Amino acid sequence: LDGFIADADDSLDWIFRFAGPNPEVEATIPLIGSVLAGRRTYDVGRSLSDGGRGGGVYGGAFKGPIFVITHTPPADDFDTTFLMGDLRDVVRIALGAADGKDLLILGANLAQQCLDAGLIDEILIHVAPILLGGGVRLFARLGPSIELEPMSVSAAGAVANLRFSLNRRPVTE
Ligand SMILES: NC(=O)c1ccc[n+]([C@@H]2O[C@H](COP(=O)([O-])OP(=O)(O)OC[C@H]3O[C@@H](n4cnc5c(N)ncnc54)[C@H](OP(=O)(O)O)[C@@H]3O)[C@@H](O)[C@H]2O)c1
Repeated sequence: LDGFIADADDSLDWIFRFAGPNPEVEATIPLIGSVLAGRRTYDVGRSLSDGGRGGGVYGGAFKGPIFVITHTPPADDFDTTFLMGDLRDVVRIALGAADGKDLLILGANLAQQCLDAGLIDEILIHVAPILLGGGVRLFARLGPSIELEPMSVSAAGAVANLRFSLNRRPVTE
């Protein structure tokens, strides 16, 4: 609720307490054709799966291509496609693999760069009833206001789902 998507230790333990059935998530997964994650999101997910604690996008429910943007690909992962270079080129490649479906962006740092570059069409937020008090902010950007258009609000157990589209018009210059 206080805008952090990970706590200060990158722990996601709190998330699993709220990860029950969510119709908004179940309706979204089939719309996703590919995923582009930031390197830190990949690293946290990998440490979960290496530790036998799940991992994968939407707990493994998403089965399509996954890309990771990084300056330094790891030498020991041959199952993931690592991309580097110009952000627009990277997004174009990952979106091309979505086969007409949506590209899901994961990671706050990456999402903010995409937002600033005008590459985000929709924002889907799952608000969990917890105040983390610090950690990774989803929106740490400083810049002109961006007006969002509300698309839907729904609840699943204790979680509120908020979906917005972007009209791409800065409110202030
Ligand atoms: N609550 C949730 O639903 C949720 C969802 C997603 C993630 N998370 C959490 O959020 C945290 C990660 O988010 P984050 O914002 O810190 O990091 P992030 O966006 O996942 O990754 C940032 C990293 O990606 C690489 N990168 C980003 N842009 C790049 C570019 N243009 N070119 C090349 N490399 C680029 C850089 O890594 P290098 O320079 O090292 O290559 C950068 O440090 C983790 O704790 C994760 O578990 C939570």
